Amino acid sequence: MNKIIYKEKLSDTVYLMRLEAPMIAAEREPGQFIILQVEADYGERIPLTIADADPDEGSVTIVFQVVGKTTQLLCALNEGDHVEALVGPLGRPTHIENVGSVVCVGGGIGIAPLHPIAKALKAAGNHVTTILGARSKDLLIMEEQMRACSDELIICTDDGSYGQKELVTKPLDEVCKWNPRPNLAVCIGPPIMMKFCSETTRQYDVPTVVSLNAIMIDGTGMCGGCRVTVGGETKFVCVDGPEFDGHKVDFQNLMNRLSAYKDQEKDHVCNLDKFK
Ligand code: FAD
Ligand code: FES
Ligand code: MG
Repeated sequence: MNKIIYKEKLSDTVYLMRLEAPMIAAEREPGQFIILQVEADYGERIPLTIADADPDEGSVTIVFQVVGKTTQLLCALNEGDHVEALVGPLGRPTHIENVGSVVCVGGGIGIAPLHPIAKALKAAGNHVTTILGARSKDLLIMEEQMRACSDELIICTDDGSYGQKELVTKPLDEVCKWNPRPNLAVCIGPPIMMKFCSETTRQYDVPTVVSLNAIMIDGTGMCGGCRVTVGGETKFVCVDGPEFDGHKVDFQNLMNRLSAYKDQEKDHVCNLDKFK
């Protein structure tokens, strides 16, 4: 059992929690995630990125969007409550080095996984330009934390309620034209955003890392649920990723697999409810 030490609402649907997990906090590196189970017995296990960690407090921070059953159950918990289990740190850590200049692009809830990576890239001595995108101003999360680890911060909203009324690919294209151009792009957000960011950087030969959000079941490379195609090869996001070369990812395959259960989900009564 892991105790919730702190809970904060970041937007209408996004929450931040700090959970007691001393061993994970001591071991984790940027880019890694946990699998969290809210309830015992029939609780499903969901992957969430470790947005931050404090080894002194023995805590990990998660930032999650309420989208369905398990994130609703998690959101209903408060400080002092416990979740059933946390497993981690999982996945390969981000490769962090001083490459010179990096452009970090985060969309929606993707800003949460981007934050520890941008922070580590900045600490390694890189010049960090960050581009954040959200549907509207009230859905933009972690602006101040991202500003703190960026040399420049560009904000885009779909409805123009804050920053530029553009998709993130527009300023990304402009940054790629800078002389010298960035040495690395890190893009995390919805698959369609990562696809078009990768298309943009490809034109300028800017190496690009994306973090894939495939559906996971065991998180240990056993079930094959999270398989994706990268450079024509099958990879498992949980053990080979979650980060991959954006220029090699088959995004259409990822999007097809993410929507594989849409028909069943339409009129579905969750099995989890049947046991209550
Ligand atoms: P459901 O109604 O069950 O599903 C809603 C949608 O969430 C689905 O359509 C699907 O796209 C996705 N999803 C559902 N089950 C899973 C699953 N087992 N594995 C992966 N995706 C699933 N979300 C955040 O809000 N913050 C994060 O930091 C974050 N980090 C992630 C890191 C990784 C490596 C991966 C793979 C996913 C991450 N996600 C993150 C997505 C998160 O796991 C899903 O939003 C969550 O599982 C939804 O559960 P639900 O029961 O509330 O919703
Ligand atoms: Fe089962 Fe990755 S989640 S192999
Ligand atoms: Mg679910």
